[in-house]
Amino acid sequence: MGAMSGLRVAITGSASGIGAAIRRRLEEEGARVTGVDLRDAEVEADLATPEGRAAAVEAVRSHCGGVLDRLVVAAGVGGHLEDRALVASVNFFGAVALLDGLRDALAGRPAAAALAVCSNSARFLPVDEHPFVAACLAGDEPLARKLVADEAGFFAYIASKHALSRAVRHRAREWGAAGIRLNGIAPGATETPLLDATARDPVLGPGLEALEIPLGRRAVPEEIARVAGFLLGPDAGYVHGSIWYVDGGNDAAAFPDRF
Ligand code: NAI
Repeated sequence: MGAMSGLRVAITGSASGIGAAIRRRLEEEGARVTGVDLRDAEVEADLATPEGRAAAVEAVRSHCGGVLDRLVVAAGVGGHLEDRALVASVNFFGAVALLDGLRDALAGRPAAAALAVCSNSARFLPVDEHPFVAACLAGDEPLARKLVADEAGFFAYIASKHALSRAVRHRAREWGAAGIRLNGIAPGATETPLLDATARDPVLGPGLEALEIPLGRRAVPEEIARVAGFLLGPDAGYVHGSIWYVDGGNDAAAFPDRF
């Protein structure tokens, strides 16, 4: 009997990479997982659109009988996509809509917890005051999509993940009061199809190569999944509103005097 035995867990982005590794990890611990993805999932839905997100929330509810013990939002796309607005819609709005849409299914469950897969790249650009980030945090998707449309791909990715990290922290007060722990995990470069596609991009690829990673290698998805399992598990009962960097020291090397 594992730590997650019998618990009902929903995971977006469950068909590939980090989401799939988290799924395997939690299933090994005994969880009953409802995967959400474009394909190869119990709930097949497109998190890029408001309609797809609403359908996903309803389908997860009916699949898990209206009750969830854990929630992971991992679905995301890379900054190599030409459609910058799509990056914002999936990586920020798709994540936040599932968190908010399923919050009441988590409320009241013992040791309820949720985790957003953010990114250590969220600090790579000074976007704290950027109007795109403000539009995301205000929930104004049409404006955010307009503001990001002509930006570089790395901006769309980084600023969406920056906004997502702040959205996690913005919810700490309310979610904590509702008895639900909510954290973010910020992986560094991790060997997945998304990273492969980013590496092939003529602009993003060299940027990725230039990252200083003190541990001298990229992560494999299982290394991210193990920390995710910890954050969702009983040993992390007092961890709330945190963004956990799991990046081989990349953030420390880039910002040794900030934490
Ligand atoms: P991946 O490409 O292996 O997996 C992403 C999953 O999200 C795929 O199964 C995909 O079908 C799903 N997805 C994409 N768009 C969707 C949509 N519109 N609706 C529903 N599902 C959709 O990528 P990876 O690397 O496992 O990414 C998982 C998360 O980790 C993403 O949020 C990514 O931004 C984040 N991340 C990845 C890093 C890396 O180096 N691989 C580093 C930091 C964060």
